[in-house]
Amino acid sequence: MIYLDYVATTPLSDEIRLTYEKILEKYFANSDSAYSLGYEVSGLLDNARSHIASLLKVRPDELIFTSCASEANNTAIKGVCFQYMNRGKHIITTAVEHSSVMNTFKQLEEVFGFDVDYIGVDEKGHLNLEELKDKMREDTILVSTMYVNNEVGTINPIKKISQIIHEKNPKTKYHVDCVQALGKLPIDLSLCDLATFSAHKIFGLKGSGLLYKNHHTTIVPLINGGQQEFGLRGGTSNAATYIVLAKTMRLALEKQEEHYQYVASLNAFMREELHKRDGIVINSSEDASPFILNISVPHYKPEVIVHDLESSGIYISTRSACTSKKTEISHTLAAMHLDEEVAKSALRISFAHVTTKEECVTFLKALDQSLERVKKQR
Ligand SMILES: Cc1ncc(COP(=O)(O)O)c(C=O)c1O
Repeated sequence: MIYLDYVATTPLSDEIRLTYEKILEKYFANSDSAYSLGYEVSGLLDNARSHIASLLKVRPDELIFTSCASEANNTAIKGVCFQYMNRGKHIITTAVEHSSVMNTFKQLEEVFGFDVDYIGVDEKGHLNLEELKDKMREDTILVSTMYVNNEVGTINPIKKISQIIHEKNPKTKYHVDCVQALGKLPIDLSLCDLATFSAHKIFGLKGSGLLYKNHHTTIVPLINGGQQEFGLRGGTSNAATYIVLAKTMRLALEKQEEHYQYVASLNAFMREELHKRDGIVINSSEDASPFILNISVPHYKPEVIVHDLESSGIYISTRSACTSKKTEISHTLAAMHLDEEVAKSALRISFAHVTTKEECVTFLKALDQSLERVKKQR
């Protein structure tokens, strides 16, 4: 099998699985129980939170464990909107966000009457910063942008965006979806008020997410319950999952630079090879995250290619896994105003540090054969 869809999810690392199994077996008690078994779990949880806080250079009480990044995005965005709606109901995001941000903004607009502006991008996915400047208002309470786009890999200039927001309205909260940046790019949380992360994109567990919320920001909780997570997310702590998140993040961050350089070399090799082929268009900009390479093969149905490659044991995708069952053009590619034929025929290839050059070579050969086969069938 050749797996080239690491942006959708990663396999669980053996090291994390073993640690998780050990913790699950031994530390089953409720971390809020007032006896030694509970205190023991609660102590491990505190250590994990402090460990993650030191990795991210924030305070432990600024971290909230969640079940996934989608939950963290919902908690951050709705939490801020409901908290600060008396100050204003204008909120801003981009036209290319993950569905967990996009649909949250749509709900706030359609159900809760918020006034939303969606900032556009150019044909390579770069955000229109002038438009952001123009759209910022006195009553703007929140801006939410991703760090790295999950379909084409475009990297948003978080520092510049943060400066624009603070110059235009220092009271506006800034949320950054860091899911596709964690373990890949440097993350400076002093530039934003809230940020979100997911474990299953970095060889960790599914059902494990994290929300950073700085201590100057208040949110209305989405899940009311007990005292867990500083009263901001009720429900008995999924302690074993939270505890292994610390190790998952440490492993991803300690080799970040090495992994980045390696994947950048694979990406450069793939780009060079793909450029040699007629009829293949590269949609990801040169300065995008090297972990994601979005290409199009105009006049071919991308689902057909994906399934044909699958028959050779090769896995890539057409777009974000969360929207893969939709048939229309991806909202990201539509926002990039690509030629319709290009936008309709997009394929997403994504790499990790475990991807080998041999896998890339095999993929390229299989793609050539697949295009021949599919063409003959048309
Ligand atoms: C940019 C981005 N944000 C959020 C998510 C949601 O993550 P989770 O699966 O943990 O809910 C994803 C997952 O694909 C993503 O790529």
